[in-house]
Amino acid sequence: MSSESEGLEFPGGFFARDDETDDAMFYSYPRYVTHIDDGAIDAVGALYDELGVRGAVLDLMSSWVSHFREPPDALTVLGMNADELAVNRQARSWVVHDLNADPSLPLGDDSFDHATCCVSVDYLTRPVDVFRDVARVVRPGGLFVCTFSNRLFPTKAIRGWLLSGSATHQKVVSEYFAAAGGYEPARTRQCTTPPGGDPLYAVWAMVS
Ligand SMILES: C[S@@+](CC[C@H](N)C(=O)[O-])C[C@H]1O[C@@H](n2cnc3c(N)ncnc32)[C@H](O)[C@@H]1O
Repeated sequence: MSSESEGLEFPGGFFARDDETDDAMFYSYPRYVTHIDDGAIDAVGALYDELGVRGAVLDLMSSWVSHFREPPDALTVLGMNADELAVNRQARSWVVHDLNADPSLPLGDDSFDHATCCVSVDYLTRPVDVFRDVARVVRPGGLFVCTFSNRLFPTKAIRGWLLSGSATHQKVVSEYFAAAGGYEPARTRQCTTPPGGDPLYAVWAMVS
């Protein structure tokens, strides 16, 4: 059996979660914490620098921090908790929007130079639809950069992610890009992080 919303690429149940209640409930109160350690955060910033993620940037599934070493000229953060987003000091504007309730971004075509999504892609239940819409709001030649580690909220992560390891996670996110269309082939990497700390993996692709 295959997932109806995502076509034939993913097995049935792949996008199910233990907690299927409205995400607004889970994210109703702010969590002013970091979800990866300092070494992994540093690796996110280094990757953004290396890839030239600057200008007008959309940080999807964001919170009170966005991990840029230097804030982009115009950072828009989109997430679930208004209190967290309102105190993101790198952001110029913020949007509360539930991507599992509605994977269409409430943002105009070609509005951004690049997009990012840090340690959150595993919570998307309709990722291919979201990735497709990211390609609409990012200008051709821009990047969508997804990073993830091995820490998560298990009740809100999709089952397909929980049941697989980091090598498969990179293939899964690469498949999201391929299935969405509108991107050049995805690139993957395990980023350099301090020994014994949180690992960091990245998958990114250019909007074609
Ligand atoms: C583990 S936190 C990561 C936050 C931030 N990106 C970071 O690097 O610290 C997961 C984030 O995903 C966002 N999120 C979870 N479910 C979402 C959904 N359905 N729609 C939009 N954002 C969501 C939450 O607002 C939360 O801030």
